[in-house]
Amino acid sequence: MALRNIVKLGDDVLRKVCRTQMTFDEKLWTLLDDMADTMYKAEGVGLAAPQIGILRRICVIDIGEGLIELINPVIVKTSGKQVGSEGCLSLPGRFEEVQRPFKVTVRAQNRKGENIELTGEGLLARAFCHEIDHLDGKLFIDRI
Ligand code: NI
Repeated sequence: MALRNIVKLGDDVLRKVCRTQMTFDEKLWTLLDDMADTMYKAEGVGLAAPQIGILRRICVIDIGEGLIELINPVIVKTSGKQVGSEGCLSLPGRFEEVQRPFKVTVRAQNRKGENIELTGEGLLARAFCHEIDHLDGKLFIDRI
């Protein structure tokens, strides 16, 4: 277990577009494990790689229903809308009302490089959108 430092608003790394993750090896698995540890320690529901200074298209999510690891995630379908309070571990203490789709389907790879497809509603859909935004240098405050 290793905790990584969470980058805060103002650091340029949060504004960069992340690169595709091409390798599915022990180095990736260690990164994923560290990201999960860091997210749980900070009591967040999601963490994206740029938030620990790594410009790769990787994020972890746990809304209380188990750990989800997404590598190279892409939103392929959305429907409905929801407006609700959203926060971010890189903007501690700040919460804003943000509109997101109510239902979101994501295609990604798992830690073995296998293709996966997941659909989430409500908070999970919000987390998918929020974390994938991070991979393109976007923050929730851009969507207020
Ligand atoms: Ni965030």
